Amino acid sequence: MHAVKAYFNYLLTSKNQYGVHSPFLFDYLTKGLSGKSILDFSKARQFRKELDQSRESVIVQDFGAGSKVFKGNKRSVSKIAKNAGISKKRAKLLAKTLHYFRPENVLEIGTSLGISTAYMSIGAPEAKITTLEGCSSTAGVAKKQFEKFKMNNIKVVEGKFDKTLDLVLKNQQYDLIFFDGNHQKRPTIEYFEKCLKAAHEDSIFIFDDIHWSVEMEEAWEYIKNHGSVKLSVDTFKWGLVFFHTGREKQHFTLRL
Ligand SMILES: C[S@@+](CC[C@H](N)C(=O)[O-])C[C@H]1O[C@@H](n2cnc3c(N)ncnc32)[C@H](O)[C@@H]1O
Repeated sequence: MHAVKAYFNYLLTSKNQYGVHSPFLFDYLTKGLSGKSILDFSKARQFRKELDQSRESVIVQDFGAGSKVFKGNKRSVSKIAKNAGISKKRAKLLAKTLHYFRPENVLEIGTSLGISTAYMSIGAPEAKITTLEGCSSTAGVAKKQFEKFKMNNIKVVEGKFDKTLDLVLKNQQYDLIFFDGNHQKRPTIEYFEKCLKAAHEDSIFIFDDIHWSVEMEEAWEYIKNHGSVKLSVDTFKWGLVFFHTGREKQHFTLRL
């Protein structure tokens, strides 16, 4: 019910790219996201298809906010792919975003079966992509797929985010971070604040499911109002934040 209300509110307040008074954002939306992409998604499509059709089941360890769909710990890989994995549309937008901004170092918090990671690898084949996952069974499936599809620019770091995040943030800056695990208020804010020290003025943070719950909306409010954030974009499913210094704070609610 919360998500339905939030979506109506979003529909009433959102604009398309032509309502954006930020040349930086307009350029990203029109050149980076609109129209047909030159990227070849066939490898990532096959990656997902194999998971969608898998007959394998795994015992998962549930962290964070749990699931609105699953009960119990034995889950079929195909159901995880359908329910926890990024949608086809968002996966392409993610790849296009990486292709447009050309990040060198990328961090993903929440690998699951690696579908979003695979699309990021297509979008930025030259980037070093580090992805964090706490459930060893799903991470194991993802790792096998990355090897099979020769996605050699991906490194999976297994373990609870509480530990692994500190590890991968040590002495490393990231140009893009995709926050897609543990959809609760406190951890989301905590990860955001930890990641700030690994950000620079051209870094981009993307938060998934910002309207998933009241808590996630509160976390998003906190993040977009944070002093370091100069530009924030609410696309309903995602919240994007940019840190350019020397600009006035701006916020947009957009339909992608
Ligand atoms: C929504 S899924 C990621 C989906 C993936 N990015 C995609 O779109 O294909 C979130 C993942 O984060 C992991 N996770 C959640 N909380 C965690 C925590 N505290 N420590 C480690 N892993 C966690 C879950 O096991 C789950 O696989």
